[in-house]
Amino acid sequence: PTKIVLDCDPGHDDAVALLLAHADPRIDLLAVTTIGGNQTLEKVTRNTLGILTLIGCTDVPVAAGCTRPLVREMRVAADIHGESGLDGVDLPEPTITLDPRHAVDVIIETVMAHGPGEVTLVPTGPLTNIALAARREPAIIERVREVVLMGGGVHVGNATPVAEFNILVDPEAADIVFGAGWPVVMVGLDVTHEALATPQVAARVAQIDSVAGRFVGQLIEAFGENYRQVQGFDAPPVHDPCALAYVIDNSIVGTRRAPLTVELRGEHTTGMTVADLRGPEPADCPTSVGVSLDVDKFWDLVVGALEELAPG
Ligand code: BDR
Ligand code: CA
Repeated sequence: PTKIVLDCDPGHDDAVALLLAHADPRIDLLAVTTIGGNQTLEKVTRNTLGILTLIGCTDVPVAAGCTRPLVREMRVAADIHGESGLDGVDLPEPTITLDPRHAVDVIIETVMAHGPGEVTLVPTGPLTNIALAARREPAIIERVREVVLMGGGVHVGNATPVAEFNILVDPEAADIVFGAGWPVVMVGLDVTHEALATPQVAARVAQIDSVAGRFVGQLIEAFGENYRQVQGFDAPPVHDPCALAYVIDNSIVGTRRAPLTVELRGEHTTGMTVADLRGPEPADCPTSVGVSLDVDKFWDLVVGALEELAPG
């Protein structure tokens, strides 16, 4: 299995990513770290502990990270994820306690405790913790296998016409992560807007008579309603598990190597990710961008993971 650290801000779709990371046998979840994003750090950390309790993932360290971006003011996505960060979903009281270490230290210690090329970082929120880890201990840059992140988009934005939420929240952190030199795979909106939880998907989830099945059913419904009202989608895009899907089976997400930067100064374009797709694919480029999704394989993976979890 691929060893990963999942850095997240749950968040309805982050919750599905956590579930997939726990349930799929091809993933060895070494640690979960949290980052202020969809809601405040305090709220997303509480949500993380509740989700992991609900799905029975109680033996993985969970550490809280940064409360705000490197440079800019904090912004949250209450319009999509609600005041709690996970509105419309019932969570149990957590039975897990938080690791006392800072997320940045947990990321560094986990990477350094494993061999070169062993640990993959999977950020599904703003990139603040990952950027700080790279600055605090540059030795992780050589040691990490790759960074597979949900964020950005080649041709489309969501928080603005051209910027995706995770990148817009902390574009300076994204700049550090994209330019560090380690392999980066950006699984952005071009991919995740294909991962729609359609009524057919919801019907498959509804067949799964378990705590986790009912939980994901609730998630899709609540998230779907907000996406309809705020972004005009018929069905919600379930972004974050797409990054996990790539780590589990890279035939699910089509990628191509491309120089990748982020706009930091644009009057109307701050947070836009700029991938240079001109010409042939450069052989020695450490950054890649997701361009397509095998939708059927993706949902088979998510539904399969839900079925793996113990009934109850
Ligand atoms: C990303 O932003 C968050 O609201 C979601 O959890 C996802 O990580 C999509 O733009
Ligand atoms: Ca997220």
